[in-house]
Amino acid sequence: MFLARLASRNGFARHARTFSTSLKRDAAKVALLGASGGIGQPMALLLKQSPLVGDLALYDIVNTAGVAADLSHVNTPARVTYHQGLEQLPKALDGADIVAIPAGVPRKPGMTRDDLFNTNASIVRQLTETSANTCPKAIMCIISNPVNSTVPITAEVFKNAKAYDPRKILGVTTLDIVRSSTFVSGLLKNVDPQDVSVPVIGGHSGITILPLLSQANPSLSFEAAEIEALTSRIQNAGTEVVEAKAGTGSATLSMAFAGVRFVTSILEALNGKENVIECAFVESNVHPDVKYFATPIRFGPNGVEENLGIGKLSDFEAQKLKELIPELQKNIAKGEAFVKQ
Ligand code: 2OP
Repeated sequence: MFLARLASRNGFARHARTFSTSLKRDAAKVALLGASGGIGQPMALLLKQSPLVGDLALYDIVNTAGVAADLSHVNTPARVTYHQGLEQLPKALDGADIVAIPAGVPRKPGMTRDDLFNTNASIVRQLTETSANTCPKAIMCIISNPVNSTVPITAEVFKNAKAYDPRKILGVTTLDIVRSSTFVSGLLKNVDPQDVSVPVIGGHSGITILPLLSQANPSLSFEAAEIEALTSRIQNAGTEVVEAKAGTGSATLSMAFAGVRFVTSILEALNGKENVIECAFVESNVHPDVKYFATPIRFGPNGVEENLGIGKLSDFEAQKLKELIPELQKNIAKGEAFVKQ
C-alpha cells in the first residue's frame, strides 16, 4: 500500500505501465530450452536485460521455478515465465519467435564434443520435435553440442514435420568468433577486442573450427608460426576451459555471452535492422562436399538472407579447409542418420 502510494506520487506506476505495454508490442518471445543449466542461467540473465525481449520462457527438466523467481526480480520489462518437464514444453514454445537451445550435458576432460552425441542427440531431437510442432516458424538457435551434428538433427526433425525452412535452422558458432577476437587483440597493442573481427568458418569442434586470420579486420601481419599457433589455440579453446574446470563442465559464461550476442543479432534482424552479419553453421552450398557449413551470413526477418561465403583463403587456410572436410562430413552424416534410422 505504502509502495503503491509512493509509486503513484512519483508517477512511477503510470510510467512503468506505459513503458512495458509499448515495449511488449514490438518485443519478441524467446524460448530458452535448458534454462537451468550452466549456459542457460547466464543466458537467461543476459536476455532478461534485452529491450528486444518481451517474453522470456524458461524451460528445463528441473529447477526452472527457482531460476524464474530469481530472475523475475530484475527490474527490466521482459516478462519471465517458467515451464518444467516435457509436458510443459509446448506452453514454453507457444508463440516463440526464437528458440535458443543450450540444453544437454557438457564435456569432461579428455572428451571431444562428439563424445556428447549419445546423450545430447536425443535431448535435441526431443526438444526440436516439439518445436517443429508448436512453433514451426520460429528461428532455431542451436547451441547444444556437438553442433556439427545437432544442427543436421534439427533439420531432419523439421523435414519430418514438413516445417523445414533452411533459413531458420542456425548453429551458434559465435564463441569461436568471440575467442578469435579476444586472442588476436591480445597480441596487438592498444586495441579494443570488440574492434577486431575474424571470420570463423567450417564447424564447431576441433579442426573443423577454421579461423580465417587472413581476413581479419584490421588486417594482421603475423608470422606463419604465429598464425599456426593462434589457429590451434582458437580450435582448442573450448578444451582449454574444460581442462581448467577440471571435470565440472565446459564454457558457460563466455558461451552465454556469445549465445546472447547471436540471439540479439537475430532479434535485431527480425526487427528490420539491415546488414546484420554473424557467422553461423547452416545448410549451405558454399562447399561442394558438405551440406552444412559455417560462414558469415547476412540475416533478415526470416533468418538467413544471404550466405556471404568463404572468400579468399591463404594457402595455410586452404590446406586446413581440405583437412576438416572429412571430419565435418562424418559429424553431419551421424546427425542425419540418428533421425533417419
Ligand atoms: C565451447 O566451445 C561449449 O562448445 C562450447 O566451449
